[in-house]
Amino acid sequence: MPIIKAIDLAYVRVRVPDLDKAEAFLKDFGLQRSARTDKALYMRGSCAEHHIHVAELGPPKFLAMAFVAASEDDLHKLAKQPGASGVETIDEPGGGRRVRLKDPDGNTVEVVHGIERVQPIAHARHPLNDAIDGLRRAGTLARHEKGPSKVLRLGHGVLVSPDMPPMLSWYRETLGLLMSDEVLAPDGQLVLAFNRLDRGPEYVDHHVFLLQPGPKPGLNHIAFEVQDLDDLMLGHEHMVARGGDKVWGIGRHVYGAQIFDYWMDPFDFMYEHWTDTDRMNADFRGVTDGTIASANGPWGDQVPERFFTHSHE
Ligand SMILES: [Fe+2]
Repeated sequence: MPIIKAIDLAYVRVRVPDLDKAEAFLKDFGLQRSARTDKALYMRGSCAEHHIHVAELGPPKFLAMAFVAASEDDLHKLAKQPGASGVETIDEPGGGRRVRLKDPDGNTVEVVHGIERVQPIAHARHPLNDAIDGLRRAGTLARHEKGPSKVLRLGHGVLVSPDMPPMLSWYRETLGLLMSDEVLAPDGQLVLAFNRLDRGPEYVDHHVFLLQPGPKPGLNHIAFEVQDLDDLMLGHEHMVARGGDKVWGIGRHVYGAQIFDYWMDPFDFMYEHWTDTDRMNADFRGVTDGTIASANGPWGDQVPERFFTHSHE
Protein backbone atom coordinates (compact mmCIF):
# COMPACT_ATOMS: atom_id res chain seq x y z
CA MET A 1 0.00 0.00 0.00
CA PRO A 2 1.27 3.49 -0.79
CA ILE A 3 1.65 5.97 2.06
CA ILE A 4 -1.13 8.13 0.59
CA LYS A 5 -3.10 8.36 -2.65
CA ALA A 6 -2.70 11.89 -4.01
CA ILE A 7 -5.98 13.13 -5.49
CA ASP A 8 -4.66 15.76 -7.89
CA LEU A 9 -1.73 17.82 -9.06
CA ALA A 10 -1.91 21.22 -7.35
CA TYR A 11 0.66 23.53 -8.96
CA VAL A 12 4.17 23.89 -10.24
CA ARG A 13 6.54 26.26 -8.45
CA VAL A 14 9.31 27.94 -10.45
CA ARG A 15 11.65 30.91 -9.93
CA VAL A 16 11.96 33.59 -12.59
CA PRO A 17 13.94 36.85 -12.71
CA ASP A 18 11.07 39.06 -13.95
CA LEU A 19 7.51 38.67 -12.63
CA ASP A 20 6.07 41.15 -15.16
CA LYS A 21 7.46 39.12 -18.04
CA ALA A 22 6.25 35.89 -16.43
CA GLU A 23 2.75 37.29 -15.97
CA ALA A 24 2.60 38.58 -19.56
CA PHE A 25 3.63 35.17 -20.93
CA LEU A 26 1.22 33.23 -18.73
CA LYS A 27 -1.68 35.56 -19.62
CA ASP A 28 -0.92 35.07 -23.30
CA PHE A 29 -0.88 31.34 -22.56
CA GLY A 30 -4.39 31.55 -21.07
CA LEU A 31 -3.88 31.71 -17.29
CA GLN A 32 -5.16 34.52 -15.08
CA ARG A 33 -3.71 36.33 -12.10
CA SER A 34 -5.00 35.06 -8.78
CA ALA A 35 -2.62 37.00 -6.50
CA ARG A 36 0.68 38.80 -6.66
CA THR A 37 3.06 39.95 -3.95
CA ASP A 38 6.48 41.68 -4.14
CA LYS A 39 8.11 38.28 -4.22
CA ALA A 40 5.78 35.97 -6.13
CA LEU A 41 3.03 35.60 -8.71
CA TYR A 42 0.11 33.15 -8.34
CA MET A 43 -1.74 32.26 -11.54
CA ARG A 44 -4.99 30.32 -11.85
CA GLY A 45 -6.96 28.56 -14.58
CA SER A 46 -10.72 28.87 -15.00
CA CYS A 47 -11.57 26.01 -12.62
CA ALA A 48 -11.86 26.48 -8.85
CA GLU A 49 -8.19 26.05 -7.85
CA HIS A 50 -6.81 29.21 -6.23
CA HIS A 51 -3.58 28.83 -8.23
CA ILE A 52 -2.00 26.25 -10.49
CA HIS A 53 1.30 28.05 -11.12
CA VAL A 54 3.59 29.87 -8.68
CA ALA A 55 6.48 32.03 -9.91
CA GLU A 56 8.88 33.31 -7.25
CA LEU A 57 11.29 36.16 -7.98
CA GLY A 58 14.95 35.20 -8.48
CA PRO A 59 17.34 33.41 -10.85
CA PRO A 60 15.46 30.88 -13.05
CA LYS A 61 15.01 27.53 -11.32
CA PHE A 62 12.50 24.70 -11.12
CA LEU A 63 11.51 24.65 -7.44
CA ALA A 64 8.78 22.02 -6.96
CA MET A 65 5.76 20.14 -8.15
CA ALA A 66 2.86 20.05 -5.70
CA PHE A 67 0.25 17.32 -5.30
CA VAL A 68 -3.04 17.45 -3.37
CA ALA A 69 -3.71 15.16 -0.39
CA ALA A 70 -7.25 13.98 0.36
CA SER A 71 -7.02 14.97 4.03
CA GLU A 72 -4.85 16.61 6.63
CA ASP A 73 -4.38 13.12 8.10
CA ASP A 74 -2.56 12.20 4.90
CA LEU A 75 -0.20 15.15 5.43
CA HIS A 76 0.65 13.79 8.88
CA LYS A 77 1.41 10.37 7.37
CA LEU A 78 3.81 11.97 4.90
CA ALA A 79 5.45 14.10 7.60
CA LYS A 80 6.70 10.87 9.22
CA GLN A 81 8.73 9.95 6.11
CA PRO A 82 12.54 10.33 6.22
CA GLY A 83 13.60 13.86 5.30
CA ALA A 84 10.04 15.24 5.26
CA SER A 85 9.17 18.61 6.76
CA GLY A 86 6.53 18.81 9.43
CA VAL A 87 2.98 19.78 8.52
CA GLU A 88 3.33 23.50 7.80
CA THR A 89 0.81 26.30 7.40
CA ILE A 90 1.38 27.79 3.95
CA ASP A 91 2.24 31.47 4.30
CA GLU A 92 0.97 32.41 0.84
CA PRO A 93 -2.24 33.65 -0.82
CA GLY A 94 -4.79 30.81 -0.67
CA GLY A 95 -3.33 29.46 2.59
CA GLY A 96 -3.66 25.75 3.32
CA ARG A 97 -1.34 23.19 4.88
CA ARG A 98 1.67 21.47 3.38
CA VAL A 99 4.41 18.88 3.75
CA ARG A 100 7.63 19.16 1.76
CA LEU A 101 9.50 16.03 0.70
CA LYS A 102 12.50 15.21 -1.50
CA ASP A 103 12.26 12.59 -4.24
CA PRO A 104 15.31 10.35 -4.94
CA ASP A 105 16.70 12.86 -7.49
CA GLY A 106 16.52 15.65 -4.89
CA ASN A 107 13.52 17.47 -6.41
CA THR A 108 11.26 19.10 -3.85
CA VAL A 109 7.73 17.66 -3.83
CA GLU A 110 5.06 19.60 -1.97
CA VAL A 111 1.87 17.89 -0.86
CA VAL A 112 -0.90 20.30 0.10
CA HIS A 113 -4.38 20.27 1.58
CA GLY A 114 -7.03 22.88 2.30
CA ILE A 115 -5.95 25.65 -0.08
CA GLU A 116 -8.82 28.12 -0.59
CA ARG A 117 -11.09 27.57 -3.62
CA VAL A 118 -12.16 30.38 -5.95
CA GLN A 119 -15.21 31.01 -8.13
CA PRO A 120 -14.84 29.17 -11.47
CA ILE A 121 -14.85 31.32 -14.61
CA ALA A 122 -17.32 30.27 -17.34
CA HIS A 123 -16.48 30.69 -21.02
CA ALA A 124 -18.65 30.51 -24.14
CA ARG A 125 -18.31 27.13 -25.83
CA HIS A 126 -19.37 25.88 -29.24
CA PRO A 127 -19.55 22.07 -29.42
CA LEU A 128 -18.90 20.34 -32.74
CA ASN A 129 -21.77 19.42 -35.07
CA ASP A 130 -19.91 16.48 -36.54
CA ALA A 131 -21.21 13.77 -38.86
CA ILE A 132 -22.33 11.44 -36.08
CA ASP A 133 -23.54 13.95 -33.49
CA GLY A 134 -24.79 16.67 -35.81
CA LEU A 135 -27.07 18.57 -33.45
CA ARG A 136 -24.79 19.39 -30.53
CA ARG A 137 -25.29 23.10 -31.11
CA ALA A 138 -28.51 22.96 -33.07
CA GLY A 139 -30.23 26.33 -33.35
CA THR A 140 -27.23 28.39 -32.23
CA LEU A 141 -24.61 30.37 -34.15
CA ALA A 142 -20.94 29.68 -33.40
CA ARG A 143 -19.10 33.01 -33.26
CA HIS A 144 -15.53 32.28 -32.17
CA GLU A 145 -13.54 35.09 -30.59
CA LYS A 146 -9.81 35.46 -31.18
CA GLY A 147 -7.56 35.57 -28.12
CA PRO A 148 -5.58 33.41 -25.71
CA SER A 149 -6.67 29.85 -24.93
CA LYS A 150 -8.79 29.34 -21.84
CA VAL A 151 -6.60 27.27 -19.56
CA LEU A 152 -8.96 25.35 -17.30
CA ARG A 153 -6.65 23.33 -15.08
CA LEU A 154 -3.21 21.84 -14.55
CA GLY A 155 -3.01 18.38 -16.11
CA HIS A 156 0.46 16.90 -15.69
CA GLY A 157 4.12 17.50 -15.00
CA VAL A 158 7.10 15.82 -16.66
CA LEU A 159 10.47 15.27 -14.99
CA VAL A 160 13.78 14.09 -16.43
CA SER A 161 15.83 11.64 -14.38
CA PRO A 162 19.26 10.00 -14.74
CA ASP A 163 18.01 7.02 -12.68
CA MET A 164 14.35 6.25 -13.32
CA PRO A 165 13.58 3.07 -11.31
CA PRO A 166 13.99 4.58 -7.80
CA MET A 167 12.09 7.69 -8.89
CA LEU A 168 9.15 5.65 -10.21
CA SER A 169 9.08 3.51 -7.06
CA TRP A 170 9.10 6.62 -4.89
CA TYR A 171 6.20 8.36 -6.65
CA ARG A 172 4.15 5.15 -6.74
CA GLU A 173 4.87 4.17 -3.11
CA THR A 174 4.61 7.68 -1.64
CA LEU A 175 1.72 9.20 -3.62
CA GLY A 176 -0.02 6.07 -4.91
CA LEU A 177 0.48 6.81 -8.59
CA LEU A 178 -0.39 3.99 -11.01
CA MET A 179 1.39 2.96 -14.20
CA SER A 180 -0.58 3.76 -17.38
CA ASP A 181 1.95 3.30 -20.18
CA GLU A 182 5.62 2.37 -20.21
CA VAL A 183 7.59 2.66 -23.43
CA LEU A 184 10.80 0.69 -24.02
CA ALA A 185 13.61 1.38 -26.48
CA PRO A 186 14.67 -1.52 -28.77
CA ASP A 187 17.40 -2.39 -26.25
CA GLY A 188 14.75 -2.78 -23.54
CA GLN A 189 15.62 0.44 -21.71
CA LEU A 190 12.64 2.30 -20.24
CA VAL A 191 12.32 5.64 -22.04
CA LEU A 192 8.87 6.95 -21.08
CA ALA A 193 6.88 6.14 -17.93
CA PHE A 194 3.35 7.57 -17.73
CA ASN A 195 1.60 7.55 -14.34
CA ARG A 196 -1.92 8.49 -13.28
CA LEU A 197 -3.70 9.19 -10.01
CA ASP A 198 -5.43 6.38 -8.12
CA ARG A 199 -8.94 7.62 -7.45
CA GLY A 200 -10.44 4.13 -7.43
CA PRO A 201 -13.42 3.82 -9.77
CA GLU A 202 -13.22 7.50 -10.80
CA TYR A 203 -11.76 8.15 -14.25
CA VAL A 204 -8.68 10.37 -14.31
CA ASP A 205 -6.26 11.70 -16.95
CA HIS A 206 -4.05 9.04 -18.56
CA HIS A 207 -1.09 10.72 -16.88
CA VAL A 208 -0.52 13.24 -14.12
CA PHE A 209 3.23 12.52 -13.94
CA LEU A 210 5.58 11.42 -16.73
CA LEU A 211 9.19 10.47 -16.18
CA GLN A 212 11.78 10.26 -18.94
CA PRO A 213 15.54 9.59 -18.89
CA GLY A 214 18.22 12.26 -19.27
CA PRO A 215 21.66 13.13 -17.94
CA LYS A 216 20.50 15.77 -15.45
CA PRO A 217 17.40 15.85 -13.25
CA GLY A 218 14.94 18.63 -13.99
CA LEU A 219 11.61 19.75 -15.35
CA ASN A 220 10.79 18.92 -18.96
CA HIS A 221 7.34 20.52 -19.18
CA ILE A 222 4.13 21.41 -17.42
CA ALA A 223 0.80 20.83 -19.16
CA PHE A 224 -2.50 22.68 -18.91
CA GLU A 225 -5.88 21.50 -20.17
CA VAL A 226 -7.65 24.00 -22.42
CA GLN A 227 -11.34 24.12 -23.24
CA ASP A 228 -11.53 22.25 -26.56
CA LEU A 229 -9.96 21.98 -30.00
CA ASP A 230 -11.08 25.42 -31.20
CA ASP A 231 -9.71 26.92 -28.00
CA LEU A 232 -6.36 25.21 -28.54
CA MET A 233 -6.18 26.45 -32.15
CA LEU A 234 -7.14 30.01 -31.15
CA GLY A 235 -4.46 29.93 -28.45
CA HIS A 236 -1.88 28.70 -30.95
CA GLU A 237 -2.59 31.61 -33.30
CA HIS A 238 -2.47 34.01 -30.36
CA MET A 239 1.00 32.72 -29.38
CA VAL A 240 2.20 33.02 -33.00
CA ALA A 241 0.92 36.62 -33.11
CA ARG A 242 2.78 37.37 -29.85
CA GLY A 243 6.04 36.07 -31.34
CA GLY A 244 6.13 33.07 -29.01
CA ASP A 245 8.82 30.38 -29.16
CA LYS A 246 7.02 27.30 -30.50
CA VAL A 247 8.55 23.94 -29.60
CA TRP A 248 6.24 21.22 -30.95
CA GLY A 249 2.72 21.07 -32.29
CA ILE A 250 0.04 20.96 -33.15
CA GLY A 251 -0.37 17.18 -33.19
CA ARG A 252 -1.90 14.23 -31.40
CA HIS A 253 0.03 12.10 -28.93
CA VAL A 254 0.12 8.31 -28.97
CA TYR A 255 0.35 7.92 -25.18
CA GLY A 256 -2.62 9.64 -23.56
CA ALA A 257 -3.89 10.62 -27.03
CA GLN A 258 -4.10 14.35 -26.29
CA ILE A 259 -4.08 16.98 -29.03
CA PHE A 260 -1.04 19.02 -27.97
CA ASP A 261 0.80 22.32 -28.50
CA TYR A 262 4.14 23.13 -26.78
CA TRP A 263 5.74 26.54 -26.18
CA MET A 264 8.85 27.83 -24.38
CA ASP A 265 8.56 30.83 -22.02
CA PRO A 266 11.23 33.60 -21.78
CA PHE A 267 13.04 31.70 -19.00
CA ASP A 268 13.41 28.33 -20.78
CA PHE A 269 10.44 26.69 -19.06
CA MET A 270 8.31 24.60 -21.43
CA TYR A 271 4.51 24.57 -21.25
CA GLU A 272 1.86 22.54 -23.05
CA HIS A 273 -1.73 23.15 -24.02
CA TRP A 274 -3.74 19.98 -24.51
CA THR A 275 -7.30 18.84 -25.04
CA ASP A 276 -9.07 15.47 -25.37
CA THR A 277 -7.12 12.93 -23.31
CA ASP A 278 -7.62 9.22 -22.62
CA ARG A 279 -9.13 8.74 -19.16
CA MET A 280 -8.70 5.54 -17.16
CA ASN A 281 -9.62 4.42 -13.66
CA ALA A 282 -7.78 2.18 -11.20
CA ASP A 283 -9.02 -0.98 -12.96
CA PHE A 284 -6.77 -0.31 -15.95
CA ARG A 285 -3.66 -2.52 -15.76
CA GLY A 286 -1.25 -0.38 -17.80
CA VAL A 287 0.58 -1.23 -21.02
CA THR A 288 4.25 -1.82 -21.81
CA ASP A 289 5.07 -0.89 -25.40
CA GLY A 290 8.29 -1.76 -27.25
CA THR A 291 7.64 0.41 -30.30
CA ILE A 292 9.40 3.69 -29.58
CA ALA A 293 8.96 4.63 -33.27
CA SER A 294 5.46 5.66 -32.23
CA ALA A 295 6.77 8.71 -30.29
CA ASN A 296 5.48 10.69 -33.27
CA GLY A 297 1.71 10.74 -33.23
CA PRO A 298 -0.85 9.66 -35.80
CA TRP A 299 -0.83 13.19 -37.23
CA GLY A 300 0.97 16.50 -36.69
CA ASP A 301 4.53 17.78 -36.60
CA GLN A 302 7.44 15.40 -36.00
CA VAL A 303 8.94 15.58 -32.50
CA PRO A 304 11.95 17.95 -32.43
CA GLU A 305 15.23 17.07 -30.71
CA ARG A 306 14.96 19.89 -28.18
CA PHE A 307 11.66 18.57 -26.88
CA PHE A 308 13.23 15.30 -25.75
CA THR A 309 16.45 16.78 -24.42
CA HIS A 310 14.89 19.66 -22.47
CA SER A 311 15.48 19.64 -18.72
CA HIS A 312 15.24 22.80 -16.61
CA GLU A 313 17.13 22.63 -13.30
FE1 LIG B 1 2.66 16.58 -21.88
